[in-house]
Amino acid sequence: MSVLYTGIGELVTNDPGTGDGSVLGVVGDAAVVVEGDRIAWTGPAGRAPAADERVDCDGDAVLPGFVDSHAHLVFAGERAGEFAARASGRPYTAGGIRTTVGATRAATDAGLDAGVGALAAEMLAAGITTFETKGGYGLTVDDERRALRIAARHTPETTFLGAHVVPEEYRDRRDDYVDLVRGPMLDACAPHARWVDVFCERGAFDPDESRAVLEAGRARGLGIRMHAGQLGPGDGVRLAVELGAAAVDHCTFLSDADVDALAGSGTVATLLPGVEFSTRTPWADGRRLLDAGARIALATDCNPGSSFTSNPGFCVALAVRHMGLSPAEAVHAVTAGGAAALRRDDVGALVPGRRADLVRLAAPTHVHLAYRPGVPLVREVVAAGVRYRVGRHAERLTTGEGARA
Ligand code: NIG
Ligand code: FE
Repeated sequence: MSVLYTGIGELVTNDPGTGDGSVLGVVGDAAVVVEGDRIAWTGPAGRAPAADERVDCDGDAVLPGFVDSHAHLVFAGERAGEFAARASGRPYTAGGIRTTVGATRAATDAGLDAGVGALAAEMLAAGITTFETKGGYGLTVDDERRALRIAARHTPETTFLGAHVVPEEYRDRRDDYVDLVRGPMLDACAPHARWVDVFCERGAFDPDESRAVLEAGRARGLGIRMHAGQLGPGDGVRLAVELGAAAVDHCTFLSDADVDALAGSGTVATLLPGVEFSTRTPWADGRRLLDAGARIALATDCNPGSSFTSNPGFCVALAVRHMGLSPAEAVHAVTAGGAAALRRDDVGALVPGRRADLVRLAAPTHVHLAYRPGVPLVREVVAAGVRYRVGRHAERLTTGEGARA
């Protein structure tokens, strides 16, 4: 079964060899042919081949589905009070994670699964067609294993984050906790995980502890990713590069040596503007990274503490306003950049052979994501060839003579 999407005002392919020759490879008045779950053809609408079905996109922009390479969706409860307290000056600390650990341990499997499902549905409606998610709110062998089992029902991009913080019961025995994480906890979780991650930060894990956990994960066949440079400068970013991590995430505080190391590496620097927004911390300098030649991604970091957003459009707008990125660079980072951060070559671009993951905006250009901040612009999502309409209008429920006829 083939579908022709035509009448596309602006098609973002992320293939610089196509269209306008920019990094986004933009084709005007374009069409896409989808065969099953794959892209079969892209190009000018006038040259499109025939297909079984035809969808007229009415001049709308079509982008690759967003690839969210950093999220923490397996949790219970919420921390709105902590967020509100920051408005009166209380700083964000890693310790807030323990609040969510308590709620998550007390939750049922069904409750956690429903929570992930609800956030995954929110993400799809916001245009995310691939997402990563971590454990890290269980911090016991059984709780981390169940978090990853549940996560794996929703995405293949699952990450073991036993080293999120040291839980309360190990407060005075942190070495024992690191041994637990890189031993029995890793053994229990590795079968359900693709990646290993560590929160390498003051108040969480130091570089030696982080290295021990990451090397153990790698020895079990997991790919490496890291949280570093969120709350202050440190050695985490260079450790990530040294270990050949796929990505190092946050990068809010970077030294010149960190930027140089990233620029000469295959490690993607992931920017998480929802965190800076929600924790009132300085903005990561995306411009500095791009100018140095580093590869960047943009992700939501959806979690109940530091960034409770599932909306990549919002992240694009923040990155354009506060991180020095152009709209094109931000859109590239949240599509091709996310794919690179997950080392995926089947998503993140609209070229023949890739998975048919498309976002159709209710707008004529990708620029509108930043130009119309906060407006739900996703009109339609195609995920692995399956079409979803996204509602954006109020449906009147009052019948008869309402006050606002
Ligand atoms: O990516 N930094 C560590 N982990 C999360 C925050 C988790 C939380 O506050 O619950 C993050 O920001
Ligand atoms: Fe995170």
